[in-house]
Amino acid sequence: MTDVDLVITASRLVTPKGPAPLTGDRLRDLRVVGDALVAVDDGVIVDAGERDAIERRYGALARLDLPGQAIVPGFVDPHTHALFVGSRADEVVLRQEGRSYMEVLTAGGGILRTVRAVRAASDGELIMETLERLDRMLAHGTTTAEVKTGYYLQPEGELRLLEVIGSLDHPVDIVPTFMGAHAVPPEFEGNAPGYIDSLLGVIPRAAAMASFCDVFCEAGAFDLEQSRRVLEAARSVGMGLKVHADEIEPLGGAGLAAELRARSAEHLLAASEEDLKAMAREGVVAVLLPATSYVLMKGRYADARRMIELGLPVALATDLNPNCWCESMQTVISLAVYKMRMHPDEALAAATLNAAHAIDMADDVGSIEVGKRADIVAIDAPDHFHIPYRLGGNIVTHVIKGGDIVVDRRMAPCF
Ligand code: NIG
Ligand code: FE
Repeated sequence: MTDVDLVITASRLVTPKGPAPLTGDRLRDLRVVGDALVAVDDGVIVDAGERDAIERRYGALARLDLPGQAIVPGFVDPHTHALFVGSRADEVVLRQEGRSYMEVLTAGGGILRTVRAVRAASDGELIMETLERLDRMLAHGTTTAEVKTGYYLQPEGELRLLEVIGSLDHPVDIVPTFMGAHAVPPEFEGNAPGYIDSLLGVIPRAAAMASFCDVFCEAGAFDLEQSRRVLEAARSVGMGLKVHADEIEPLGGAGLAAELRARSAEHLLAASEEDLKAMAREGVVAVLLPATSYVLMKGRYADARRMIELGLPVALATDLNPNCWCESMQTVISLAVYKMRMHPDEALAAATLNAAHAIDMADDVGSIEVGKRADIVAIDAPDHFHIPYRLGGNIVTHVIKGGDIVVDRRMAPCF
């Protein structure tokens, strides 16, 4: 008998199986174990299988027994703009009145309004508001998240945001992304190339703090050429690449992502079939953000079914930002199922293992497999079909992060 730090038992274990990324039918090929046991030592999963078969092997310092419940991997949120202050709740009504997202932005609202708030904020305010969001994300089952800069829009200010991200002390593991090219700042109005020039100088320093570089490649933000300049500079100093691509207009950002072998391209509502095929060939992850589609109220969603058919690795993310204040991957899974017709199996895989692959974390997290970090979520339901089904709620009861029980909502229901 081996002594381990923690033994978890549950009525059902549901997990995608590596290696990542998962495409086509593999997205639905989950491992499901009834009456399961997971053994955790030193924060790592050392065994996971049928309880009857393996229980005798382990003595445990701590036990978590979850009768009637299912466990799934901790959710990975691979696309957030979680670092901001304030809100833009009133913009909801502007969109209801028919003003488009880009109209609000070019009139100085949207991203530019949040930029004014962030520039006026202290590091302390930024940190406090972001940590509160991370607390709620964790309570909803997110154990790893990507966080982008992009609300300072001055080269030095964007580096400062990377420092702030690096200083966040929170159980959620954070993967930092440099997104200096998130919008054209007021100082460079009408001169996007000038702003790009100014950003290029800090990219080597950004690379020391950020894993990825992202660009908003969109009419009214940065065109293909400007996006390419930033991304090539980032690639030359070893950063991974991401592209906000073809969200509103079919500019060709998805094709650029494929050409530059970006790790991911995001949104993709207007991406051409040809560019999607190029992404599939290069293994670029399609990070889909249905909560953004939902709040934009246009009734348009990315064509997840076609992407899966084309063999793209599809991942899901919240896009958490002041335009789309969604902290819950459970909500995103619901929207993926109900609005994009992803199968609940596919949605779970896209929100865990493929999401981890989208931020180059799939060796460590994203599935309940031996050797992976013990990031595990327990739900108050017998199986993972309840995650999309129980619309708008939080059915997570426990979050285990690196082998520690960091959320126990049965004892202290808080959100
Ligand atoms: O992915 N489109 C650009 N960036 C974000 C929105 C940021 C904001 O509106 O503050 C997005 O949707
Ligand atoms: Fe985004």
